Amino acid sequence: MNTVAAPRVHPFHHAGTGTWSYVVADPASGAAAIIDPVLDFEMASGRTATTSATGLVDCVRQHGYRVDWLLETHAHADHLSAAHWLKATHFNAAPIAIGEGIRSVQARFRDVFDLGAGFAVDGSQFDHLFAADEVFAIGGLACRAIPVPGHTSDSNAYLVGDALFTGDSLFMPDGGTARCDFPGGSAATLYRSIRRLFDTLPDATRVFVCHDYAPGGRPVACETSIAAQRQANIHVRDGIDEDAFVATREARDATLAMPALIIPSVQVNIRAGALPEPRDNGIRYINLPLDAL
Ligand SMILES: [Fe+2]
Repeated sequence: MNTVAAPRVHPFHHAGTGTWSYVVADPASGAAAIIDPVLDFEMASGRTATTSATGLVDCVRQHGYRVDWLLETHAHADHLSAAHWLKATHFNAAPIAIGEGIRSVQARFRDVFDLGAGFAVDGSQFDHLFAADEVFAIGGLACRAIPVPGHTSDSNAYLVGDALFTGDSLFMPDGGTARCDFPGGSAATLYRSIRRLFDTLPDATRVFVCHDYAPGGRPVACETSIAAQRQANIHVRDGIDEDAFVATREARDATLAMPALIIPSVQVNIRAGALPEPRDNGIRYINLPLDAL
């Protein structure tokens, strides 16, 4: 009987944005990846901080891991990525990687944020762009980058041994699914992405979500399974067809405000987490388009 290796998973919850970041490691070799690290940002002051990201570094150091990958599930709209800071300050050898759909996201947002013709929309700010279902490794762990478009066109889930990191597709079963109303989003596309996960992954696959907003006031949670999702996900459990899902998803999206940090997040995250270059006065700026989003 084949057994699928089980990585060690260290979850980190970012309370300000409801984001889960992960350190995932191959216990045998000590090889590790960091998934969706958060750069702290306060909108009112425009100040960034690396407190949360330092917690990830501390975990890596405490366990003696070697970070081989810095993985983004997509260009997040709700938080800034700390991938660039982590690579520049601690993990120089680790490629920052995202799905190849990032190119279309860059092209879409270059104009609205007036990033200039010099802003490359070929994904070259990242070290590696995953093709659909590309396989890779974290030490001895077999991994696969699985496209899950719908929330965004660049969304990936990462299968690491028996653990699936869903990005913004599936939330915990009582949280349902990620919104699909951003530019490039599609509820029908998300439904098909999730059904493909359900139809191709074993029920026992551990599922680690990218966000949890603690519905009903329960404690925050990050781990579920394909079986639990198929049985109980409030939006997309077995028996809910595409039309019903799309109706539910679009009705819910119509009630949601823009994420508080979408404007700075997108501008930084399509640069792989690098902040915009300083202007002549030495200060970095985020552009704030009026009546455009
Ligand atoms: Fe997202």
